[in-house]
Amino acid sequence: MCGIIGYCGPRPAADILVEGLKRLEYRGYDSAGICVRSEDDLSIYKKKGKIADLKAYLPETIAGSTGIGHTRWATHGEVNDVNAHPHSSGDGSIAIVHNGIVENFTPLREKLEEDGYEFVTETDSEVIVHLVDSLYEGDLERAVKRAVLLLKGTYGLVVMHKNEPGVLVGARNGSPLVLGIGESEMFLASDVTAIIAHTKQVVYIEDGEVVCLTADGYRTSDLKDRPVDKTIDVISWELEEIEKEGFTHYMEKEILEQPESILRAMQGRIESEYATGHLGGLNMTRQELLQVERVKIIAAGTSFYAGMVGAYLLESLARIPASAELASELRYRNPIVERNTVYFAVSQSGETADTLYAMRELQRKGARVLGICNVVGSTIPRESDGGVYIHSGPEIAVASTKAFTSQLTAFYLFALMLARMRDMSIEKGAELIRYLEAIPHLIDEVIDRKESLIPLARKYHRAEDFLFLGRGINYPVALEGALKLKEISYIHAEGYSAAEIKHGPIALINEETPSVFLVPDDALREKVISNMKEVKARSGQVIAIAVDGDDEVASIADDVFFVPRAHELMYPYLMVVPLQLFAYYTALELGRNVDQPRNLAKSVTVE
Ligand code: G6P
Repeated sequence: MCGIIGYCGPRPAADILVEGLKRLEYRGYDSAGICVRSEDDLSIYKKKGKIADLKAYLPETIAGSTGIGHTRWATHGEVNDVNAHPHSSGDGSIAIVHNGIVENFTPLREKLEEDGYEFVTETDSEVIVHLVDSLYEGDLERAVKRAVLLLKGTYGLVVMHKNEPGVLVGARNGSPLVLGIGESEMFLASDVTAIIAHTKQVVYIEDGEVVCLTADGYRTSDLKDRPVDKTIDVISWELEEIEKEGFTHYMEKEILEQPESILRAMQGRIESEYATGHLGGLNMTRQELLQVERVKIIAAGTSFYAGMVGAYLLESLARIPASAELASELRYRNPIVERNTVYFAVSQSGETADTLYAMRELQRKGARVLGICNVVGSTIPRESDGGVYIHSGPEIAVASTKAFTSQLTAFYLFALMLARMRDMSIEKGAELIRYLEAIPHLIDEVIDRKESLIPLARKYHRAEDFLFLGRGINYPVALEGALKLKEISYIHAEGYSAAEIKHGPIALINEETPSVFLVPDDALREKVISNMKEVKARSGQVIAIAVDGDDEVASIADDVFFVPRAHELMYPYLMVVPLQLFAYYTALELGRNVDQPRNLAKSVTVE
């Protein structure tokens, strides 16, 4: 989704802005632009398309060492050069970049038009620049504060004025904004990936705060002009982690990284002596954990599917009623917050608006909401009542992969903890830990076999529809497999419980619609085999993900990919990796933009 970068310092701003925008590409965008204060004027360059298109359009050198940049993911107004940010005031003295949505932009625009302001774009963001202009009396920071008080909706914004050289003003409500502190230079960005090449010292701007920065310093205050003291955080990621390091795509790199990322999610979180998990960040005492009677999980997209697996684990291991729900749905149905219920907000980015707003709604009703997030310092972990960082490292590809398996790991550990406080014996706990600790190695084995998925992608990539079918704990994995394929290959894919196809989807089966069956050697294996036969009987093609040595499945399926044998609760890990790889290879066959699929954004900060 939209990305922001701002710079003030001694270096040529344009280079830093373009480089920052390049690093924000992964968030998803459709146009980009920069504004630099050059020879006492503001020069704006913006282009529909990729950063490469913007770069080609820029003059060779742009003088000026203060500027702002933006990647736009259209919400209001079509994708074109004019609607791209930055937007400027009529006389070109003020420029602005904005993430978020101004909900009351229609009345604001009407009022501004009455006052003689001319709008040149179809965006909601343009009202902000005219508002600031209308309120400007020689002090940009003050004008921004007065302007944002009139806005309804969400914003992360950065503003500059040609008469205030070397000054940037940023403000936030609902869309992330982070200040980067360098040596005699300052940065503002929508996420740290844009600035990590320059500094690791950051200050997270909160909702209702405004920051005014120059090359040598910054000042943070609230909208009533009261100073706000901020702490400086140090980013733990290394620049190398956001580089491709020889891989063709980030997605490939991130899939193959999973043995290590899962290990990182586990590290220091297993108490072998007591055969239990240890999650220090939950901010809950053992007594409070013992009182938990229900767990509810809210999330979106891939994180939601991880939450479904988590709910299954909590019920089967800890015997605690648990369920997962789409955050976007929960928020608007006036959720009932019950006593002794713990909520989890699961989000790789920690910024997904649907999940964040649902979390806030629950908290307002008195719920305890814990986060399971990847991006350290993002909004959900900062506002949650505690939680677990999964430490996957930066996930850059839009389609989430390694975050999913690390989110699962957080749930295994939490379920183990609660189970061991209840019915699970120390022996059973130790056994589960052994199975869990074996996972990175078993995923390595799956990865070693990855080449055999390439012919399958070749064989099936022309299909227009796919079904992904699983049961029990692997039902959400089937949903995730379908999501991965549609996200990056644009092939229509549906995930279903294998049991459910007879209630409708079986009507879709013919020789052109392949079905991917997940067939672990668990209690439901026979049932899934029957469903496979039903599909075969209707001339459907079957791809099975089965367990080493399962000749019966191999004899029924048209194609089979084998995964190593494991404990039946561990198969989500082993089943999802081939599905991620299958989607990846299929997208390659189709020549898709794997890391930045059309229309999608990595971090969806609007509802
Ligand atoms: C977007 C991404 C998905 C992701 C979902 C939830 O839609 O494209 O890949 O699963 O958001 O993101 P989160 O950061 O909350 O896990």
